Amino acid sequence: MTGAFKWLRRRDEAAPISVGSHLTLKDVESGYGNLPILHGVSLEVEPAEIVAVIGPNGAGKTTLMKTVFGLLPTFGGQMSFAGQDLARFSSAARAGLGMAYVPQEASTFPQLTVYDNLAVSLLSMPGREQARRIGEMLEVFPALGELRRARAGTLSGGERQMLAIASAMITKPQFLALDEPTTGLAPSIVAARIKDITEAREAGATVLWVIEESPMLCLPHVDRVYVMNSGELSASRPATDLLDEELLQATFFGVAG
Ligand SMILES: Nc1ncnc2c1ncn2[C@@H]1O[C@H](COP(=O)(O)OP(=O)(O)OP(=O)(O)O)[C@@H](O)[C@H]1O
Ligand SMILES: [Mg+2]
Repeated sequence: MTGAFKWLRRRDEAAPISVGSHLTLKDVESGYGNLPILHGVSLEVEPAEIVAVIGPNGAGKTTLMKTVFGLLPTFGGQMSFAGQDLARFSSAARAGLGMAYVPQEASTFPQLTVYDNLAVSLLSMPGREQARRIGEMLEVFPALGELRRARAGTLSGGERQMLAIASAMITKPQFLALDEPTTGLAPSIVAARIKDITEAREAGATVLWVIEESPMLCLPHVDRVYVMNSGELSASRPATDLLDEELLQATFFGVAG
């Protein structure tokens, strides 16, 4: 295998991390309080696939991610990961299943240093294993190595997203979900974050990626795309079908089918 995250599959570790890392949602309903937002959402992400969700502001993309990670209750439907019924797992327990989440907001702890942000992801591990993994991650991201003593709140947007992705990858997830990890970044930084995401997949992670800005830069790296509009998800289509500016524009605003 290739890529900077190749250390994720060390010979001394269990089977390849992609095994069984299959996410399935069927007719999922969820929302805030009594307010329904997701209306019968069905979605599949297969092992080592990169699947994107696109759609306009307020469509329900973040609500979908929060629902998958157990941060919102479901009103109906089923969700499973690696053959396990997610209803039986708390939000924290889903991390134990190998699910990692880079949220749209508050993806790092601003008061903590870069090093301590990485350590927070590994709190349940012995100190020596923590130090080993952090050392490896700082080699994968040398820029973070230089910033190891800086507080996350002082980082640039691109550096913060790098830290957020590193904090997720350091847990060696089987499933990585990212909510708009490139929004607000300069194109060159977007390219660097896309590289991190594709390398995560090369390391065997299954990826669910909410894209809003820079779709023409991101979509060439995606296998399939679901479009969300008003809490409903379309059937997926190959990402290559959407690499046309006009069609993409129409799709974003729910004009095309
Ligand atoms: N905490 C909340 N309480 C009540 N309604 C909410 C809450 N958060 C979001 N909503 C509503 O849920 C709907 C979907 O919001 P969501 O954040 O999932 O959209 P999104 O597709 O992620 O948008 P964006 O592209 O702007 O991030 C919106 O109508 C929003 O107003
Ligand atoms: Mg959102």
